Amino acid sequence: MRYATITGWGKAIPPAILSNADLETIMETSDEWISTRTGIKERRIAEVETSDMAAMAGRQAIAAAGKSPEDVDLIVVATCSPDTLLPSAAAWAQTKLGATNAAAFDLNAACSGFLYSLIVATNMIKGGTHKCALVIGSEKLHSFVNFRDRTTAVLFGDGAGAVLLEAVDQDEPTGLLSSEMGLEVGTEELLWAPQSGTKTYTDEAIASERAIQMGGSEVFRRAVTMMAESSERVLAEAGWTSEDVDIMIPHQANVRIIDAATRRLGIDESKVFVNIASYGNTSGATIPIALTEALEEGRIEPGAKLVFAAFGAGLTWAAATFQWGDRVTPIDTYDVEFPASSLTGIDIIQANLEYFGRNDVAATSEAAE
Ligand code: ACO
Repeated sequence: MRYATITGWGKAIPPAILSNADLETIMETSDEWISTRTGIKERRIAEVETSDMAAMAGRQAIAAAGKSPEDVDLIVVATCSPDTLLPSAAAWAQTKLGATNAAAFDLNAACSGFLYSLIVATNMIKGGTHKCALVIGSEKLHSFVNFRDRTTAVLFGDGAGAVLLEAVDQDEPTGLLSSEMGLEVGTEELLWAPQSGTKTYTDEAIASERAIQMGGSEVFRRAVTMMAESSERVLAEAGWTSEDVDIMIPHQANVRIIDAATRRLGIDESKVFVNIASYGNTSGATIPIALTEALEEGRIEPGAKLVFAAFGAGLTWAAATFQWGDRVTPIDTYDVEFPASSLTGIDIIQANLEYFGRNDVAATSEAAE
């Protein structure tokens, strides 16, 4: 039987930090509010583009699998913040990786994008059209954040993570055992960036509408339900109970969402991987970064049973059970190196502050709610 299993993993974490204390200097907020309401202490801000981080994380995943870029026949980049709409971030990343034999495309399902991509790539491998897929989540979300809107700006960060997914023929099931992805109708404007595409208004462009806006508490409520219920369904389909799960890797949007969803699922908090304090919500990059860090920290053992769950703009959701293989250490290593720079997070977002300051903010999320 043909399965698709993860043989390599990697991440690219931009060096510049934007802490809660930094945010206190530019908006009316506090470390205390952000920490207790979200679990976030700091986030990373990238100077390089989404595809640069995608290529770095991808290159590390390829090395961890003991492969070379030419072996890759498919690249899927989960992103809602591509360098350009035309071409895709995957196209830029393919060139930067030197993956000359790969088809490449972006998949935008916002924060559920990595799981959507993992499911799509798994099915392409199982269907026999591809054998070696690089599935990347990469985001430079700060480009779509208005740092004058405290209701959204504190939540997001930049970064990338990746896995290499390879075909294996064996009797024992491995890789994704059960999965689902979905989208709730009529919720597009609950979490969106109104002027990030072709949809424009007759008014002079309102700068704040380039940025992410959301109905935070409504998204919060739906996120808990979506993550808990979809996880319950994929666990049942795999024939697992919550006690069978060795580690759960949820999307990291708010630690209170993670706590509420996993409590409902009955998964002990010691089994839930949480790294939101360091990175905030990196949307499509969140789960592959968390998976890579779980492996680096020895939290995943050979044969481990994993559960993934995510939700995001759309509103999308996805969940999956994943049977890990035998290897939990990289075959080879690749050191991710960002270009040398002395800029801090607060330095890098100055352009953003000027942009949104110039085009004063009429419509913030607070106004939208
Ligand atoms: N600092 C200080 N005060 C703030 C801040 C801030 N950064 N942001 C909001 N507040 C204030 C509000 O103005 C409000 O004040 P008021 O009571 O005087 O009106 C008060 O804090 C409470 O605001 P709430 O919105 O009720 O706070 P809540 O506890 O719901 O937390 C949050 C807000 C963190 C945004 C939460 O609703 C949340 O996490 N929602 C889900 C967000 C999410 O997961 N988005 C997914 C994005 S994924 C993607 O696809 C890109």
